[in-house]
Amino acid sequence: MNRILALALAVVLLPACMGCAQRPAQSDRENDGPPQADSSALSTPDITPDIAPDAQEPVEVPAPPQEPEEPVQPEEPYVRVIDPSQPMVALTFDDGPHPVWSNAILDTLEANHGVATFFEVAVNIPDAPDALVRMLELGCEIGSHSNAHRDLGKLSLDEILQDLATADEAFIAATGQAPTLLRPPYGSVNKALKTASGRSVITWDVDTMDWDSQDAETVIDYVQSLEDLDGHILLMHSTYESTAQAVEVLVPWLLDQGYQLVTVSELFAYYYGELLQPDQFYGYTYFTTHGRTDTPLELEPAETVETAK
Ligand code: NI
Repeated sequence: MNRILALALAVVLLPACMGCAQRPAQSDRENDGPPQADSSALSTPDITPDIAPDAQEPVEVPAPPQEPEEPVQPEEPYVRVIDPSQPMVALTFDDGPHPVWSNAILDTLEANHGVATFFEVAVNIPDAPDALVRMLELGCEIGSHSNAHRDLGKLSLDEILQDLATADEAFIAATGQAPTLLRPPYGSVNKALKTASGRSVITWDVDTMDWDSQDAETVIDYVQSLEDLDGHILLMHSTYESTAQAVEVLVPWLLDQGYQLVTVSELFAYYYGELLQPDQFYGYTYFTTHGRTDTPLELEPAETVETAK
């Protein structure tokens, strides 16, 4: 009976002793390893580097090296020099300004460093005042063609002076200057106009008849058929598209032929050797009785107009 009791006790106690024997071993393992909580707390600053947020931003790719740009050189202003010994011709345009065709003619002149003289009708100026400013900027000359294209040759001196004074107001409003040249409409003059208008009264000596044909080819063919244009004043009108088209061909052609494009005042100074005088008439007979001078004059460069751009 005692032996059975002892065996029973052994069976009950043995598992308890075995469990006691395992505990120290488990406890040792825990003590050997690093504490879990401490481990994560200590290592956090090391594994979250400062650059981490940046990694999500777009990566900047450095631009490829570029060719150094050529420094932009300011364009030298074109200086027009007139050689009095060389052929020259004065293109003149009446009846403008025209808001389209005057500027088209100026485009051609500007592209070719050419100039011309524009005899303008004052009542047209409010339609294209900027064209007059541009003419002066390009070195062109502006003359009066009366206030409203009346036949001045049929007016009294008082009426002529009143017409021209009214016209001057429009010229001055646009450019600050009153013209000293006058081309009478229709070329019509009387004694009062020729001798007492206070202007240099001037006509032309080559009529392209552009107003009649209103055809660019006809005007071009006519001008190109003329033997010698040296010292001449050509009459055209800035109010026709056909004239603007003809000018686009004739200006480079004239330059190719060796002509210098000059204003009327320049033609008189460099070719005829005189300064245009007030109360003088320079008509058809002037050109048939005068030729190239041996003593050309030199004009000061025309005043440029200050414009607010
Ligand atoms: Ni006219």
